[in-house]
Amino acid sequence: MATRMKLKLKTVFVLYFMVSLMGLVYALMQLGQRCDCTEHNMPKDRTISRLRGELHRFQEQIRKSEATKQPQKQPAKPTIFVITPTYARLVQKAELTRLSQTFLNVPQLHWIVVEDSPHKTPLVTDLLVKSGLTYTHLHMPTAKDRKLQEGDPSWLKPRGVEQRNEGLRWLREDRRAQAGGDNQQGVVYFADDDNTYSLQIFEEMRSTQRVSVWPVGLVGGMKYERPVVEGGKVVRFHTGWRPSRPFPMDMAGFAVSLKLVLANQEACFDGNAPMGFLESSLLQGLVTMDELEPKADNCSKVLVWHTRTEKPKMKREEAVQAQGLGSDRAVEV
Ligand code: UGA
Ligand code: MN
Repeated sequence: MATRMKLKLKTVFVLYFMVSLMGLVYALMQLGQRCDCTEHNMPKDRTISRLRGELHRFQEQIRKSEATKQPQKQPAKPTIFVITPTYARLVQKAELTRLSQTFLNVPQLHWIVVEDSPHKTPLVTDLLVKSGLTYTHLHMPTAKDRKLQEGDPSWLKPRGVEQRNEGLRWLREDRRAQAGGDNQQGVVYFADDDNTYSLQIFEEMRSTQRVSVWPVGLVGGMKYERPVVEGGKVVRFHTGWRPSRPFPMDMAGFAVSLKLVLANQEACFDGNAPMGFLESSLLQGLVTMDELEPKADNCSKVLVWHTRTEKPKMKREEAVQAQGLGSDRAVEV
């Protein structure tokens, strides 16, 4: 009985061992087989192809809408018309070179150069042709009795008056000749040929609605002159001389909108204005102090300087000329 029991246990054990072994062998065989995953991956594949289809449809829609879309028009920047009087002297080419190269860095600028001369000179003509700027070249001589004579103090007579007025005349006539010219957005600025202009001042003035104003450095015997702004409005002027003038500002410190210039056809500079009243002679017919638009951070930044170029001394040149050894006249300076 005991032997039979032993035998049975042994058989059970052997059987158990065999079955486990077979199970193990089967499992090992399965490891090497490739799995048929089709069923497994079906939903994933379907999602991918559905998304692909949608992407394709979206791409088609974008392509079609872009093809039919009108090219988007950026609102054009208002043109800045810069009126510059200039006259022949030793430093003229240097001044105009510096100025033109500043203006090259200002977008949408039209330079109106008015020579104080009975004719256009080759020096200015050539400089403008080569400048790469949009320009208009005009000339208007200052009447003899109004012109500063050699040795006169510079403040004795106003300078650049007939030239600025000629620039205004041309601008008004030119706009009249253009369709919709009366309504064109634009700004008018009077830039003397010897001042120093930062590029930023042009972007400040571009949004001028009527008359915009800002400080001017190194002018009127002061570090700067400027409109004083309170609550966003000009309330008075910081100046060292006759603050009671209607607009005690330098020419470089304001710009006028083209619309205002066109709406006031008679507005111009008065060559007979007393000293220091030239700017006021134009502005008092156009605007009130209350309407002035302060720029340059409420007139707290100096972005233009009333620099003046020293007259070059020619003592040596004259001395060598007397010996027949003067500089070659054919070399333009
Ligand atoms: C100051 C102001 O900044 C000028 O805008 C103003 O015209 C002048 O005073 C004035 O009271 O008349 P300031 O430096 O003294 O300027 O004058 P300039 O720079 O000698 O002349 C102003 C502009 O007029 C310059 O662009 C200059 O080239 C031109 N100009 C000067 C002439 O066209 N003809 C001249 O005989 C003299
Ligand atoms: Mn000057």
